[in-house]
Amino acid sequence: MLRTHNNGELRLNHINQTVTLCGWVQRSRDKGGMIWIDLRDRYGITQLMLEEGKTPKEILDLSRTFGREFVISATGLVVERLSKNDKIPTGEIEIKITELSVLNPAKLPPFLIEDETDGGDDIRMKYRYLDLRRNPVRQNLILRHSVAKATRQYLDNQDFIEVETPVLIKSTPEGARDFVVPSRMNPGEFYALPQSPQTFKQLLMVSGFDRYYQIVKCFRDEDLRADRQPEFTQIDCEMSFIEQEDILNMFEGLIRHLFTQVKGLDLGEVSRMTYAHAMKFYGSDKPDIRFDMKFVELKSEEVDLVSGKDFVVFDSVNTVVGICAKGCAEYTRKQMDELTDFVKRPQIGAKGMIYLRYNADGSLKSSVDKFYSEEDLKIWAEAFGAEKSGCRPGDLILILPGDGNKVRKQLNELRLEMGNRLGLRDPKKYAAHWVVDFPLLEYGEEDDRWFAMHHPFTSPKPEDMKYLETGELGKIRANAYDLVINGVEVGGGSIRIFQKELQAKMFSVLGFTDEEAKNQFGFLMDAFEYGAPPHGGLAFGFDRLCSLFGGSDSIRDFIAFPKNNSGRDVMIDSPSRIDDKQLNELKIRTVV
Ligand code: AMO
Repeated sequence: MLRTHNNGELRLNHINQTVTLCGWVQRSRDKGGMIWIDLRDRYGITQLMLEEGKTPKEILDLSRTFGREFVISATGLVVERLSKNDKIPTGEIEIKITELSVLNPAKLPPFLIEDETDGGDDIRMKYRYLDLRRNPVRQNLILRHSVAKATRQYLDNQDFIEVETPVLIKSTPEGARDFVVPSRMNPGEFYALPQSPQTFKQLLMVSGFDRYYQIVKCFRDEDLRADRQPEFTQIDCEMSFIEQEDILNMFEGLIRHLFTQVKGLDLGEVSRMTYAHAMKFYGSDKPDIRFDMKFVELKSEEVDLVSGKDFVVFDSVNTVVGICAKGCAEYTRKQMDELTDFVKRPQIGAKGMIYLRYNADGSLKSSVDKFYSEEDLKIWAEAFGAEKSGCRPGDLILILPGDGNKVRKQLNELRLEMGNRLGLRDPKKYAAHWVVDFPLLEYGEEDDRWFAMHHPFTSPKPEDMKYLETGELGKIRANAYDLVINGVEVGGGSIRIFQKELQAKMFSVLGFTDEEAKNQFGFLMDAFEYGAPPHGGLAFGFDRLCSLFGGSDSIRDFIAFPKNNSGRDVMIDSPSRIDDKQLNELKIRTVV
């Protein structure tokens, strides 16, 4: 070892010991007679001290050549500091240097390696290895390690075994776009990188490994967002001889374990909500239930409190739905305009927003009060449980008109925005729930066909199987579930189909010919003929879990070497062109 201790461990009880430390020069202060150097490593910072007249001159001279991030080795005596620094754990001591050497000089880093850096996103990604020296980023990776460790501990205790599955697999048409890899030995043919180990974990169930897990890389060529990366990690799990309830309990247990181990927190109740309920009251299949603000319908299949008053906008739509923002009646014109602009943004796409609010005198004011009487508006306000101003400002009701789930999704965005504005989405508060009873299929207008909402291996609910025969495909619910924490889908899974006939039927519903189904998934259907046990499972988004524990929206911060929003690794400059020799070997010609 080149060092006796690390830079985070020396305390008053080490006084008078001679130690050797190694690390990076965080900064150096030369105050004439005294030189102080902050030496940093993964464990912390220790102060080195050199003194004119006492430290040998050649050592003093050498220390004056140090720039930021020089890698040095320092030997000296641990002494008590005269002025202590209570901001760092080693702040009571310093090292009186007797020997010093440069292990490697360093160029001036392109940004400050400090908690608060001056480096923008792009430069920090280009020099990610320097960014990783920064405390907050390092802490994120340490957190990630703790989550992985606690996961393995829990699953191991429950008799799960970790099995690796292949990374070069077969491209299939369902799901997101595949990343493909050309095969040199099979010219013109391609492997695909797995979007998840779904079929392999099911095959492992057929093989009798009744409790499988894997912390595994998955690859999806999809548009990126803060919570999406093209390669990401799942905690992938599967179990045999279980029902949905068993899966929910087992993995609620895992999440609870992670919360206590990693955050030292009791997660509290993990509630359940059906997909239908989530869509009706939150307009989302992953509602953030840290705050209430549920939707109230003024017009839907069940109610109509708005039609027939000559207000064409409400008359011409099938859904009018709103939220009640407590205590926001005094929002200014500017704030209201901001909200209107927010819902009209192309990503959200609402045509406009209508409001209703309680004035300070208890009367109601609405942007549509030329169509509706005070009496009408009162009925609306009651439906929302809105309150007048009193000891606090009154309530503000925000209403969107539109088409069924489309307008509900728009209102979901507005609800989240209001949650943000009102400080109701505290990252330190956690609310977890399962969303269950997802529809098995969803209709894709563009392609004019049905798609599996989860994936084609998900089992319909036995009681809804009849709709497969009657062709009422939209009515079939699946034994599928998602775990949502703070409005983030952290995991999802399903009970699987394990009979060949039902699996074949499912492929035909999804528009596969028998030939195509056999070609793509013949291996799975064959396996089902050799004694497949009833099984089911789920996968957690490992990066998302880490970012949730770390209180951040962006999973990038929790990945050592992430891709940017264009899917590029700017540090290694990938993806990149390959040379003609390589292309020729692969029998590939590019057209760009
Ligand atoms: P699903 O596609 O829902 O299910 O993925 C499981 C979880 O993985 C996370 N996730 C992602 N995280 C980061 N970047 C991405 N691009 C990304 N895509 C998904 C989410 C999600 O909940 N095989 C099934 C699971 C099963 O049925 O057992 C599957 O992959 O948190």
